[in-house]
Amino acid sequence: IPVDQFDLVIFGGTGDLARRKILPGLFRRFLSGQMPEGARVIGAARSDLDDAGFRDMIGQAIEEFGGEETADKDRLAAFLECIHYVAVDATGEGGWAQLKDLIRENVVRAFYFSVAPSLFGALAERLHGHGIADRNSRLVVEKPFGRDLETAKALNATLAEHFQEDQIYRIDHYLGKETVQNLMAVRFGNILFEPLWNNHYVDHIQITVAETVGVGGRGGYYDKSGAMRDMVQNHLMQLLCLIAMEAPNQFEADAVRDEKLKVIRALQPVDFHHIVRGQYDARGDEPSYREDVENPRSHTECFVALKCQIANMRWSGVPFYLRTGKKLKGRTSEIAVVFKDLGHSIFEGDEKRHRNILAIRLQPNEGIDLQVTIKEPGPGGMRLIDVPLDMTFADALGDDVDEATDAYERLIMDVIRGNQTLFMRGDEVEAAWAWTDPIIEGWQTRNDVPKHYDIGSTGPEDAMMLLHRDGRRWREIK
Ligand code: BG6
Repeated sequence: IPVDQFDLVIFGGTGDLARRKILPGLFRRFLSGQMPEGARVIGAARSDLDDAGFRDMIGQAIEEFGGEETADKDRLAAFLECIHYVAVDATGEGGWAQLKDLIRENVVRAFYFSVAPSLFGALAERLHGHGIADRNSRLVVEKPFGRDLETAKALNATLAEHFQEDQIYRIDHYLGKETVQNLMAVRFGNILFEPLWNNHYVDHIQITVAETVGVGGRGGYYDKSGAMRDMVQNHLMQLLCLIAMEAPNQFEADAVRDEKLKVIRALQPVDFHHIVRGQYDARGDEPSYREDVENPRSHTECFVALKCQIANMRWSGVPFYLRTGKKLKGRTSEIAVVFKDLGHSIFEGDEKRHRNILAIRLQPNEGIDLQVTIKEPGPGGMRLIDVPLDMTFADALGDDVDEATDAYERLIMDVIRGNQTLFMRGDEVEAAWAWTDPIIEGWQTRNDVPKHYDIGSTGPEDAMMLLHRDGRRWREIK
């Protein structure tokens, strides 16, 4: 179903995100017929380009990053017709009059700030000063949204000078992932799970986002952030909220976000004995983390594992174990709900611990896997084994699963539709920082040094101990 007619202005239109994600994503929506004919995408940046120069740049980017289905040259040419460019001076007056001339009345106007947060204020002010944005316009902003509570509050205040909360779309691309949305469908669309979703039946929950990539060319940014700011404060926190929140009364933006906010506010401060930070060592020709970021004394973590607790009726006493890291053994993102042991076994000689585990695989190979206990087939008597009831979405749903539908294209279409459900509200972001800040400050005060781990491993040894001490173990990273 095509969305309404729109003009989307991308500030930072020549940047990495625009070329790798936003424009290839929009092209896929164009191919699928969701982007209406006549919609306009306007790149705005400092470079002195014209429409033709920008179209060339974007055409090349789509060929490079767009994936197989974007190889259709004729359709690409038709898409590029929708693309325009204006050179603007974010902090001066150049280009704003031309931008105003390009923008149409009576279409959805959206402004994507794919630029450094220090420019948000100047851009917002000019958009309003030149009458380009109005009360119906939408504003899209990217992470990192601040680097602590104070800077996040300042950013929220800057945006609030010119835009209302219902106009602001703060992107966390994890919320645009298919299976992340499926998490809500599974929890709230089935009668099976909800009765068991609490401290009477759940032993603990594990959230893992393991990556095989390192910090790539982003060492400068990354070394000032670290895994806590780059992944935990946003992506893992959002996953935790979706798995732990109460059912909203309806699937509507504020109802969902109110419930997520309650989870973040109920998170207890983390005891520093319950956190492990890590940095990967060099392996053969592969540089270490410190070499990658060109900072031989760096104390920034590229791995974090922690145990946290949610102080509410549903989850009191249930540990949530979170871990994420770079250059690990495999790329595995999953949430596992590990249920408690049956109190008593009626099967004589069956001493093994059998546990139901519901694992929601976010990537790759999206799907759901429920570990159940059954009888071992054959005449050997009543011997029990644990097997997975595995539903890989691509197998079960075939063509209906569009794996290429990247989170960004889904989220941008939601902006045009005016649906904020999968975007973070200002108070959510602030609450997440309020929980994260003391952890990071604690490391600084104690001058904490990350533990070492091998490239291709599952992280530092101490991360294993975090669960072993509690008589539990991490699920395998495949
Ligand atoms: C980004 C982080 O937000 O998410 C990166 O800045 C990380 O460091 C990336 O690699 C992971 O996203 P995905 O979609 O590849 O799991």
